[in-house]
Amino acid sequence: MRRRGPGARGVARGALAWAVPAVVSLVAAPAARAADAASPAYPAGFGSFQANCAVCHGPAGAGLPALAPPLLSYPARYAASVEGRRQLALTVLYGMVGDITVDDKHYNFQMPEFARLDDATLAATLNFVVFDLDHAPADVKPLTTEEIAAERAHAVDGAAVREHRKSVVPGGP
Ligand code: HEC
Repeated sequence: MRRRGPGARGVARGALAWAVPAVVSLVAAPAARAADAASPAYPAGFGSFQANCAVCHGPAGAGLPALAPPLLSYPARYAASVEGRRQLALTVLYGMVGDITVDDKHYNFQMPEFARLDDATLAATLNFVVFDLDHAPADVKPLTTEEIAAERAHAVDGAAVREHRKSVVPGGP
């Protein structure tokens, strides 16, 4: 009996170490092929999105029902206004928590924070979402490293990020 406990935990750990990368690569593989064909305008953002975001939002940004919202139209709309651009930077830097509505559907889980990624990587990741996934119109300016740095200088929490979303989504969050 004494040996079974630790042995079982070892097996569980081993299985988990194997299963997590396998699931991630299964999720990422079809999108990698699709976007290779389309050659993304933001290749660094594409790589970062697949590594950091696709596990929840899906490799092509379609989201997961009831878990993570689609990123296929709202980010492009946000990118067209000053407060919306701030919202995008705040969301990736500090995450978001609390009920939100996207396309009449509710989501209420934790978006993790990605402050560990540098400003250039976060800007490229958002530009991949806004331009490669959402096809924002040409008069929308790409997000800059400076815009990310400006929000990094004033830390807030995920609840405040949700509060700020009220100023960019009519009737939101
Ligand atoms: C662990 C799962 C998870 C990961 C990984 C993740 N997200 Fe999210 N994301 C969420 C959830 C859940 C929400 C909604 C949060 C809420 O309900 O308040 C969200 C919300 C968002 C929003 C706001 C959408 C809106 O309409 O306001 C954006 C933008 C976003 N994520 C982008 C990203 C990007 C870019 C990455 C990678 C750097 C990423 N997410 C990684 C789960 C995730």
